[in-house]
Amino acid sequence: MNNKLIIFDTTLRDGEQSPGASMTKEEKVRIAKMLERLRVDVIEAGFPIASPGDFESVQAVARVIQDSTVCALARANPADIDRAGEALKGARSARIHTFIATSPIHMQMKLRLEPEQVLERAVAAVRQARQWTDDVEFSAEDAGRSELDFLCRITEAAIAAGATTINIPDTVGYNLPEQFATTVRQLLERVPNAAKAVFSVHCHNDLGLAVANSLAAVLNGARQVECTINGLGERAGNAALEEIVMAVRTRQDLFDCDTTIDTIQIVPASRLVASITGFPVQPNKAIVGANAFAHESGIHQDGVLKHRQTYEIMRAQDVGWTANRLVLGKHSGRNAFRSRLEQLDIVLSSEEELNSAFARFKDLADKKHEIYDEDIQALITDANLEAVNERIKLVYLRVCSETGETPHATVTLTVDGEERSGVADGDGPVDASYKAIEKLLRTDSQLLLYSVNSITGGTDAQGEVTVRVEKESRIANGQGADTDIVIASAKAYVNALNKIMQPLERAHPQRSEV
Ligand code: KIV
Ligand code: ZN
Repeated sequence: MNNKLIIFDTTLRDGEQSPGASMTKEEKVRIAKMLERLRVDVIEAGFPIASPGDFESVQAVARVIQDSTVCALARANPADIDRAGEALKGARSARIHTFIATSPIHMQMKLRLEPEQVLERAVAAVRQARQWTDDVEFSAEDAGRSELDFLCRITEAAIAAGATTINIPDTVGYNLPEQFATTVRQLLERVPNAAKAVFSVHCHNDLGLAVANSLAAVLNGARQVECTINGLGERAGNAALEEIVMAVRTRQDLFDCDTTIDTIQIVPASRLVASITGFPVQPNKAIVGANAFAHESGIHQDGVLKHRQTYEIMRAQDVGWTANRLVLGKHSGRNAFRSRLEQLDIVLSSEEELNSAFARFKDLADKKHEIYDEDIQALITDANLEAVNERIKLVYLRVCSETGETPHATVTLTVDGEERSGVADGDGPVDASYKAIEKLLRTDSQLLLYSVNSITGGTDAQGEVTVRVEKESRIANGQGADTDIVIASAKAYVNALNKIMQPLERAHPQRSEV
């Protein structure tokens, strides 16, 4: 029995398919390095045929990652596979992941292909991918709704053609744990050459069962799980990496396998992904939510104080809740700051950038006594956001808000270098500043979501604001951090509007185009 459970992280690919979660190349590289630190086995870095930006991101990740395998996604067609192979050229260890749909509904209605044609394409794609690398994964898209006999045939053919991993996705999140486990078990029993490949699962969370389905499959022989940090992903998301890893680690009495994940990096990784994508983590989220280890009831607190295991099945420090929180302050020097950046894997490209980050750090330290890792991450993310924001910049904001008076905002922005100022009243200080900004820009966009989180504890903490805006069915997330939450709110709004006003750069081919 193979007792290693391979963790395949797809935050940068399926995770990025969450509406509004687009990441820049630099952001993807930062997340990839964090995943490497977490000791993820395989990092799916993107879908190179989707856009030049996706190609370059996969290339950049492939060049910097040393300890994890870097994987690129390709539909089962020659152009996709060659593009994936090209993007992975610099990788120390490269995997091509090719897929085609195998369910009757997808084959008939989407692909308009007979099962035999689908099987031929799968075999040809795997063979072509093997020309680029010995590490080839084949996915039977919508396996969760596929016929078992056909799934067995295509799996056997893909392995015979050279696939080293067979992935069984529940693409639409339709399966229940027992049913999904049976599919995996039967495949392992019935496919004659099954022993030559690792069986993997990739579950979506439409019914809230992605983690449960993945774990049921692992208990029945799957030895790779595809998952994402914070469960990010298409629609309701993918299985959450942190939940899979900690369930298997905590229930070693039931699992005959384990991962080699460095669990102490889980919370830092969750924070980084939340801050870059602008998808905050709900407080009651398992493992990484702010309340995951907080006991409110007196009975629980009393029990934990008497004997921790009465109410705790894991230790907060084992998933990184207290790790890496070294505090810097206004007396910390440039060297301490530089070395903390290095420990956080934040690479600034020049001394100039370091100087400007250090100056921002000093500004923040003047307003806030203790600077935590999360503050430094936010400081760098904020600066990166400003760098990306070429068109609109927030120059000045003044908001008057007092009891019994209507809040009033005065805003100055530069738009393509030209200064514009305006005023507006609103229901509150944030509303007034958003109205003033919209008056100046006339974007006609709609605010779908506004959320504010405190980055660390205390009333002097930085507020991190996330907004989501929509314009003509395009969605963009924006973030901003500041010790003043009204300024953080304005920064987040400007960040989102910059994205929505940019020309559509990304063009993911939809799976229906396969
Ligand atoms: O959900 C899915 O089926 C996928 C495949 C490309 C593996 O993301
Ligand atoms: Zn998926």
